[in-house]
Amino acid sequence: MSALTALGLSCQLVRAPSVGMSAQRAHLQQRAAMPQPGSDVKPADMTPSAGASQTLNFEPFQEVKDELVQVSQAPNSESYGRLDYHQECEEGVNDQINIELTISYVYHALHAFADRDNVGLPGFAAWFKNESDEERAHAQLLIDFQNKRGGRVKLHTLMSPETEFANSDKGDGLYMMELVLSLEKLNFHKLRLLHDIACKHDDAEFADFLEGQLLAPQSRSVKEVAEYVSQLRRVGKGLGVFQFDQMLAGLVPAAAAA
Ligand SMILES: [Fe+2]
Repeated sequence: MSALTALGLSCQLVRAPSVGMSAQRAHLQQRAAMPQPGSDVKPADMTPSAGASQTLNFEPFQEVKDELVQVSQAPNSESYGRLDYHQECEEGVNDQINIELTISYVYHALHAFADRDNVGLPGFAAWFKNESDEERAHAQLLIDFQNKRGGRVKLHTLMSPETEFANSDKGDGLYMMELVLSLEKLNFHKLRLLHDIACKHDDAEFADFLEGQLLAPQSRSVKEVAEYVSQLRRVGKGLGVFQFDQMLAGLVPAAAAA
């Protein structure tokens, strides 16, 4: 016999008043069903044995036994709070951290190129720096998630990015923005694959995190950069790029203040 049953506190489903019954009448019926002070008579609906099929058994100390054994024996080198977190999800998060940091690295290389005195695109430089910070923030979100679920963060080696982005055929601006668009689309594809892993293991919280925190902003980024590519194709390589650079500078407060 559980502690709750011994106390006569086993939970029972309570049927709602039928449609059309007034609130006052329902209240009076509920009062009538309650045991009266000094009475030994228990209403039928409150007897522990009555309506066994409608009883919601909740025996916390019994149900938690197996978990308690695992928690008490867990070595302090492992997470105590890890719960239903598949190893494939954990590895996928570490891979995505590397992808976000690598793209941040590429954005920083683009920033350094656009900021050169012989390139002179301060708006591009500021926008690339801003995007680099944003990708690092995405990596931080994944690190926070990994730790929250009891996974272990592993930072893999970052690929060394190119540092030269001059292109006389397309112009530097369009060449760089097309590169960025391809990277953002690739990132969205990798996030979709990670979401597939979350769904494969029925990890609703992981899937929700990816959808809300990463996938939705990523699709917005792809749309934004695709529009920039379209605009840069329209304005050409000369004065148009100069004006586009000023437009980008206006989007990033730090560049406008410089
Ligand atoms: Fe990102």
